[in-house]
Formats: sequence, C-alpha cells, structure tokens
Amino acid sequence: MEIRTLDPDGLDALHDLRARAFGPQSRQDWLPYARRAAGENQLLGVYDGSRLVASGSYHLFDQWWHGRAVPMGGVASVCVAPEDRGRGVGRRLAAALLELMDDRPLSALYPATAPVYRSVGYEHAGAQHLLTVRPEALRTLSAGSTEVRRAGPGDAAEVVALLRRLHADARDGGPIDRGERYFRGVLEDERVYSYIADDGFLAYGWRDGNAQLAVHRCVAGSAETARALWAVVGSGSSVAETLRACVAPHDPLLWLLRDRSTEDVHRVSWMLRVLDAPAAVAARGFPAGVSADVPLVIHDEQRPRNAGAWRLTVDGGEGRLERADEDRDALRLPARGLAALYAGIPMATLRRGGIAAGGNAADRLLDAAFATTPFMLDYF
Ligand SMILES: CC(C)(COP(=O)(O)OP(=O)(O)OC[C@H]1O[C@@H](n2cnc3c(N)ncnc32)[C@H](O)[C@@H]1OP(=O)(O)O)[C@@H](O)C(=O)NCCC(=O)NCCS
Repeated sequence: MEIRTLDPDGLDALHDLRARAFGPQSRQDWLPYARRAAGENQLLGVYDGSRLVASGSYHLFDQWWHGRAVPMGGVASVCVAPEDRGRGVGRRLAAALLELMDDRPLSALYPATAPVYRSVGYEHAGAQHLLTVRPEALRTLSAGSTEVRRAGPGDAAEVVALLRRLHADARDGGPIDRGERYFRGVLEDERVYSYIADDGFLAYGWRDGNAQLAVHRCVAGSAETARALWAVVGSGSSVAETLRACVAPHDPLLWLLRDRSTEDVHRVSWMLRVLDAPAAVAARGFPAGVSADVPLVIHDEQRPRNAGAWRLTVDGGEGRLERADEDRDALRLPARGLAALYAGIPMATLRRGGIAAGGNAADRLLDAAFATTPFMLDYF
C-alpha cells in the first residue's frame, strides 16, 4: 500500500469512500471544499495499486492557548474502506498525517473512536460544550442600550479581528481561528443569523425545523453586550421550545442567568497532539506570575525530534523548551502525556491516568503554568 497526497482525479473515489464511512453527502456541497483541500495538498490517500483504500485531511487553523494563537492542523474526514478495516490502515494513515503537518506545532481532532489516534500520540484535551436551555431564560436578560446590528459578508474582517481580540483578552485555551474566508461563508449563509456589536458577535439559526434554536457562537467582551446578544436569541421563545448553544464551560452566560441548578450539557471530546514540542511551548501564552524550571524526558516514537531530555522554563508569560542532559529526577511523559499537560490537564490526573511518571516535585508549578479549561466553539 502507498500513502500519498490524493490524486487530483481521485475525488469520485473519495466521495464514494466517504459515503460508505459517514453516510451519503451531497456531491455539490462537498466538491468545492474537496477541490480546495486537494489543491493545497491537505488530502491524503492510501492506495492499493490504483484503488483508494483510505483517506484523511487536515485544515490549517490557529488554536488559542492562554490567549496566543498557535498554528494547528485540524485533522478530519479520516476513513478506511469497510472491507479494509481492522488491519492497521487507520493507524498508518494517522501517522502519515502527522508527517504532512510537519510545519505545525500542534494538531487536534474530534475522534469518532480514540484508540487509532492515541496510538500516534493524541490525547483527550478538551471538549465542545453544547448547553440546552429554555429560550425564555434568555429573553428576560435585560438588553439595556447596547447597540447590536445585523452582520453580513462585508463584516468578515471585522468579525475575525473582534474574535481574535476577545479570545486573547480572555486568555482562552482551545478555541480555533478559522480565518476570514470561513467567516465570509458563515456571514453569507442565509440560514445563519449573525449580529455584531462593538465587543461581541452572535451567530445562530434554527434546528429541527423551528422546534429548536441553535447558537453556533456568542462571544462578548462585556456583560452588557452578552445580555444584548443572548436576548436577541431569547426573543424567539414564543416559537422555539428549546435552545442549544455552543459555549465555553465557564461561559459568562452561566453567570448572567437568573437561575441555575441542574444543567443539560452535552460534551463532544477533542484530542490534541504536540507535533513540535519546542515550537508549541514557545508559541503559547503562560500566566505572567508563574516561574518554573523543570527537567523533562519525552518519549515520542512518531516524532523523534520531540524525544529525549529537555529543560522546560516558564517565566514572564513565556515558555521555552531546550535540550538538556538527562536528569534522574526528570518528569517522564509519553507524547500523550505531553499533549494532556499542554492542555492543562492536572498533573495528578496525568499520573493517575498512567501518562506521566517521575519527578513529581514540580507538579504544582506545572499545574499553575499550564492551567486552562480548554474548549472549542467549532466542530470540524
Ligand atoms: C475508525 C477507522 C478509521 C479505523 O480504521 P482501521 O484501519 O480499522 O483502524 P486500525 O486497524 O489501524 O486500528 C487502530 C486501532 O484502533 C482500534 N479501532 C479501530 N476501529 C475501531 C472502532 N470502530 N472502535 C474502537 N476501536 C477501534 C483498533 O482496535 C486498533 O487498536 P489496538 O491496536 O489497540 O487494537 C475506520 O474504522 C473507519 O473508517 N470508520 C468509519 C469512519 C470513522 O469513524 N472515521 C473516524 C473519524 S474521526
């Protein structure tokens, strides 16, 4: 079997492969995306002779980590032909995708099943949180005098700049930046109702006919704007029975609601892979008040240049990973442990989950340095 970027004339075979793996999809809707991905060499094919056996792709995203955008490859559409499953093709494809994303410090994906991705160093890191609430609870949030206007395709650059500012200011971990072209598409989509304020953005629409409202994104930099934007959605309470909103687990909405007790939250887990450890550490933000100097040994079969002895230093909001002599008391992390640490999973969880060993003197500092509650507002 040979793994190579998808042949340009391979799109028919890929459409068939995807239908067998994920169910039928309109060729018309899918083709423009597939052509672009193939043209940019972001589609991989696994071939047995001329037969397409498996495929996978990745998106060029940035991902926010403690308020800084880190280049990330978002893996999607991994599929193996039903008759070729269970023979290691999926794992080889996932490993080949790592090579293809060589220039990205990070990769992330939503796994339909985790073992394939764990076997090449991804680990569970964060989730997309879908909160179901009664629209009435939002309608009664007082809108005040904050000005909110409809947004259109001409606002794409402003929306992207605004979201970048809001994620940086909040020192968010996890959300992705899909750039202006993506947002132009959202703002052009007549099924998505988008609104913009000086410090906030809302995109929502209907689900299941008009039984449910779906908030794709509502991000605001102040309580007044959050109230105003959520109240726009809540104004649909006379028609919609429920509302499903994609939010952060610590979304300010949860503190604006008049009442809270049991919450209906659906979590869709995503996994992270550190592809280039020194670059990933240098690119992310760290809390300004934390200083750490920690010896580290990384075990990484797929990415040998990550492997070996390092010294991790964090100071003044910056991190560095530099080569060092091996220290007997070093913290030992497999690639999966490094990914989970990067995502702010506490050291106690890493140790008790079997993905960290040795050198526990620095656990408190590492917890403080990497602390974040990662989330995503997009599914891909
Ligand atoms: C998921 C899929 C890509 C796996 O491909 P594959 O070639 O069968 O996987 P591999 O043979 O390389 O298996 C790698 C590991 O994953 C495990 N695995 C494979 N399919 C699995 C499944 N459906 N559920 C749980 N584990 C699975 C294997 O047991 C193996 O782990 P092990 O070595 O610890 O036993 C393939 O079944 C598929 O295309 N499914 C439909 C589409 C899909 O779900 N895509 C994933 C999108 S994220």
